[in-house]
Amino acid sequence: MFRPELKTDRLVLRPFEPGDLDDLHAYRSLPEVCRYLYAEPSDRADAAERLARQVDQDQLTAEGQELVLAVVLADVDRVIGEVGLTWHSETDRQGEIGYLFHPDFHGKGYAHDAAAQVLGLGFGELGLRRIKATCDSRNEPSWRLMERLGMRREAHFRSCEIFKGEWRDVFVYAMLAEEYQATK
Ligand SMILES: CC(C)(COP(=O)(O)OP(=O)(O)OC[C@H]1O[C@@H](n2cnc3c(N)ncnc32)[C@H](O)[C@@H]1OP(=O)(O)O)[C@@H](O)C(=O)NCCC(=O)NCCS
Repeated sequence: MFRPELKTDRLVLRPFEPGDLDDLHAYRSLPEVCRYLYAEPSDRADAAERLARQVDQDQLTAEGQELVLAVVLADVDRVIGEVGLTWHSETDRQGEIGYLFHPDFHGKGYAHDAAAQVLGLGFGELGLRRIKATCDSRNEPSWRLMERLGMRREAHFRSCEIFKGEWRDVFVYAMLAEEYQATK
């Protein structure tokens, strides 16, 4: 399976390219973007290393891989964030989505539209049975996005890990293929 480009009215989702460093660094360097990510804010060298890895995360041909797509705001040709789709199991047809966006582009539905495209790819071409997403319970914009996408909260794990020096709770959301079809 290989899908280099997805489109909406406002967005283009495509694999990262070497020329995306400034845009990627602009959001990966921000503490507020990294607050609930395992990653810490990047300096430019970290961002360049990350970009080199993400340029290669351009396909899903085997379980265990993560496809990472740059989300380009078409009008201005700028990478405003990224979405990911991990293929966890071919046998069990399980996947996971993730997303992060530059704060200048929050609150406009871009994350929703990009994540919806990735769900479509997972349930469509990849034929997944279930797609999950997880977040820190305090990350309300993230779990609200999952709910807008039609995902269900399946679990609330309390104090399940020490994250950035403190215990945290984690929500697990998921959607089944038939639930996705019902939203169409
Ligand atoms: C999680 C994250 C991607 C959510 O982004 P977001 O901007 O809240 O989500 P959306 O793009 O779907 O925008 C939704 C908002 O846009 C509004 N909106 C405006 N125009 C819209 C449009 N045309 N279509 C849909 N929604 C629109 C919605 O009403 C909603 O507003 P609300 O939050 O006041 O209810 C963002 O907070 C983020 O990048 N956080 C940092 C990284 C992170 O934590 N990632 C997740 C790790 S688990």
